[in-house]
Amino acid sequence: MINNYSLVDRLMTDGTLSRPEFFTLIEGRTPELAEYLFDKARQVRHAVYGKDIFLRGLIEFTNFCRNDCLYCGIRKSNLSAERYRLSQEEILACCRQGHELGFRTFVLQGGEDPHYTDDRMVGIVRAIRAAYPDCAITLSLGERDRESYRRLFRAGAERYLLRHETRNEGHYAYLHPAGMSLRDRLGCLEDLRSIGYQVGCGFMVGSPGQTTDCLVDDLLFIKEFRPHMVGIGPFIPHKDTPFAGREAGSLELTVFLLGILRLLDPKLLLPATTALGTISPTGREMGVMAGANVIMPNLSPVGVRNKYLLYDNKICTGDEAAECRFCIQRRMLSIGYDIAVTRGDYAGLSGEERRAV
Ligand code: 5AD
Ligand code: FES
Repeated sequence: MINNYSLVDRLMTDGTLSRPEFFTLIEGRTPELAEYLFDKARQVRHAVYGKDIFLRGLIEFTNFCRNDCLYCGIRKSNLSAERYRLSQEEILACCRQGHELGFRTFVLQGGEDPHYTDDRMVGIVRAIRAAYPDCAITLSLGERDRESYRRLFRAGAERYLLRHETRNEGHYAYLHPAGMSLRDRLGCLEDLRSIGYQVGCGFMVGSPGQTTDCLVDDLLFIKEFRPHMVGIGPFIPHKDTPFAGREAGSLELTVFLLGILRLLDPKLLLPATTALGTISPTGREMGVMAGANVIMPNLSPVGVRNKYLLYDNKICTGDEAAECRFCIQRRMLSIGYDIAVTRGDYAGLSGEERRAV
């Protein structure tokens, strides 16, 4: 046991561990060790970001998807999903409301929907950039080619979220249909970073077929790739997918990994995800207490919210943007944190990496 506490100490000082050490840390975790880890994670988090929680306004603008990921509720084979797309005007209306509510980052997230060609997306990004010069624009549109990423960056998008889902080849193949490959996914992440985006990767915790070795692969990959943000949340089954009957990931392991990630890179932008809030009513608060510093409330119009269902029982599908905004603020104040009305950039960005606003 002593041994595992010293692993936490070394993770804190060195920012990494060896493969067998990460394995031992994860497998040997206890509630007491977790508290010790979270205490260290909060210390480094406070040193870098204080008690500020950064908000990202999530706009789920299309649930059409050409992909068929086995875990995902909006996979193309799910014929029960009621599909929708938001127009540029509808997206801008979400931003307007979000800006009034104090959001300074908008995340446009959607399935891989061919309707949103480069020209259309560039038009949308330009319009948001022009109307909200003080805001960061984050895209989460899945895999596109390098030229597409480049055009969107030049149009004004500066961050991109693309979870790698798992850094284990066999596991990736188990979660995805033939035709999708880990190599393509990692290639996209490399493209995004070399173009100049602040990049977020991430994975689900407890996805079918995931072993502790897979998690260690993820941690070592994150250490090497050095993303600006890492999104992790528990896997939650969706009733109309091949993984319908599978077990959900655990709250306890997810928050433990959040603590590890905070020590891996103290500057990391680390969201307490909606999936975490879905498996437990206080999941997001626990995530923040374990080292997370970002929350991504939903800004999508209420009329479409219950259609962007990646997994069952998603929270906030009936709530207005303003309700979520103030709900989050209450929740954060209740644990001694507060919402910052800022873009919430990665703390390690150099001057020229920050776009002039
Ligand atoms: N449970 C939890 N997270 C999921 N995602 C997709 N489907 C599920 C699910 N069933 C995650 C994936 C994706 C992100 C947008 O949502 O990691 O990258
Ligand atoms: Fe949506 Fe609490 S965050 S109601």
